Amino acid sequence: MNPIEKLMTEHQNILRGLDLLERAAAQLERGDQVSPAFFNGMVDFIREYADKYHHAKEESILFVRMSEVGFSPEMGPVAVMLHEHIKGRGYVSELAKAGEKYAAGDRTAIPDIVKNAMAYAELLRAHIHKEDMILYPMAENALGEIGISLMRPDFDNVEHEKAGVEEKYVNMLDKLEREMIGTAS
Ligand SMILES: [Fe+2]
Ligand SMILES: [Fe+2]
Repeated sequence: MNPIEKLMTEHQNILRGLDLLERAAAQLERGDQVSPAFFNGMVDFIREYADKYHHAKEESILFVRMSEVGFSPEMGPVAVMLHEHIKGRGYVSELAKAGEKYAAGDRTAIPDIVKNAMAYAELLRAHIHKEDMILYPMAENALGEIGISLMRPDFDNVEHEKAGVEEKYVNMLDKLEREMIGTAS
């Protein structure tokens, strides 16, 4: 698997999390119970996997290589992707705050959970689609097969530093999907 294929595989894991998040937000919106631990777990997944594992690789490796071949981080497609990462962090921080209130028994936090969970899922799903369909092909075109494979040592470093992170969150997704199927109405 080359580095771009690895990023696309990570997108598939992130999309599984977004599906769960959206389904739980919809349950909450129609008055069903969702365990507060679920939202804590999702915030943790988004921060530790989608952001610190996946977005960090894009920002510190792929986008840097792209900037070296003329893609400015200040304008154009890479700038849009960076802006969306930042926007997503905003939604997640609001989701975390509302999730804490909900965990403390404050049901007035429910609309904020629903709003930020839905907004994040929508933003990130569109973001992933743009990367898979437009940005990554642009990177492959500009960097060439050799340029892409030259990112491999940096990817390996991140994956080594964060050994076990992907496995931990994929296991979490498996478990949450099983539980969600168990409670589906
Ligand atoms: Fe991204
Ligand atoms: Fe991505």
